[in-house]
Amino acid sequence: MLKLAERMGRAKPSAIMAVAEKAKQLKAEGRDIVSFSIGVPNFLPGEHVYAAVREALAKDSGQYGSNRGADALLDAYLHHLEEAGLAGYTRKNVATGIGAKHVLYNLAEALLNPGDTIAFSVPYWTTYVDIADIVGAKTKLLPCPAEQNYKLTPAQLDAALPGTKVFLFNNPSNPTGMVYTKDEIAALAEVLVRHPDVWIICDDIYNRMVFDGIGYHNFINARPELRDRVIHVDSISKTYGMPGWRVGFIAGPEVVAQAMVTMNSNHITNIPEMVTAAAVAALTGPQDVPQQKNLEFQGKRDQVLAMLDAIPGVKCPRPQGAFYVFPDISCAFGKSHEGVRIDSDIDFCNALLQAKGVACVPGSAFGEPKGLRISYTCPTAQLADGLRRFAEFFAELK
Ligand SMILES: Cc1ncc(COP(=O)(O)O)c(C=O)c1O
Repeated sequence: MLKLAERMGRAKPSAIMAVAEKAKQLKAEGRDIVSFSIGVPNFLPGEHVYAAVREALAKDSGQYGSNRGADALLDAYLHHLEEAGLAGYTRKNVATGIGAKHVLYNLAEALLNPGDTIAFSVPYWTTYVDIADIVGAKTKLLPCPAEQNYKLTPAQLDAALPGTKVFLFNNPSNPTGMVYTKDEIAALAEVLVRHPDVWIICDDIYNRMVFDGIGYHNFINARPELRDRVIHVDSISKTYGMPGWRVGFIAGPEVVAQAMVTMNSNHITNIPEMVTAAAVAALTGPQDVPQQKNLEFQGKRDQVLAMLDAIPGVKCPRPQGAFYVFPDISCAFGKSHEGVRIDSDIDFCNALLQAKGVACVPGSAFGEPKGLRISYTCPTAQLADGLRRFAEFFAELK
């Protein structure tokens, strides 16, 4: 019998997409559904982005482009890095890809041999596990429950790094929205310095989406000697409301950026000219849309937390970035809703969707089965309606 490669036995479709599909199906059947499931920013970029695309279309060369990324795009990203407090990189330190997901996959291919270990905290963004599985790497999962604010401690990191080839760090976090403070980053950086054989991937794609004035901080500024091992991952998807345009970046040591170029030359060749123009315009043009959206998300974060705080038994560390809230809803386990017993996050999310038409992603998709993820980027009125139904569902539990 003809067989697929073994790695396809390890690859799974995204659990988040499965919830979104179910919600879509119920909607198609005429149900009134509020979706808190997909992590999309739900806004469009400014008009200047579309104007740049029209101009690029008029000038399209129709030719293959640079495997690293067009110079204008590399320079726009270098400028973006500087603004984020990451100066000192050149074009040789950066490379592009078809979104951060593609870039992360390329990094896994470039850094991990089968059997090597990659460590990251739990809850994690689902794709980390899948990418590790596909390349045959072992995962070392570092539990960071609600009781420790979903954040990794220096002692945990110190214990995890021996035998680890790659440490993958996500700040601000999907799915929790937690953001590490300057002091917390400095304490983790201190540990990283003591383990010189570990690559450090910083998935910082939400670095412009930070609230309460706490700012985005990184290991390199805390300990500059980490620069030759830290690889930053970024994307236009969330900050600029452009998830479908598919542009991601890395910045790091030249040897890693060059590896990305080699991967691109064999996989994708280049990012199309029109998409390049859109990304350059987003990164270098007026920043009013992302800034205004960030403020809006901060307000929505407060709205979600106010609802959750009013439910007895629900624990929810206060997120300070991205657009996610990750409450611990395990107080509902062992109860029933309209005769439907709830023993897990999956039971909870299924019953909530069925009874109230509210779609959330079960925490087990992110390795933390006591919680669920609420992505709160939907329009304000819909958010209020969804939150009201969520609270109602909890109140009706017996
Ligand atoms: C933490 C994290 N990293 C990477 C990505 C992938 O982003 P992109 O759309 O650039 O592929 C996502 C998307 O949800 C994410 O949440």
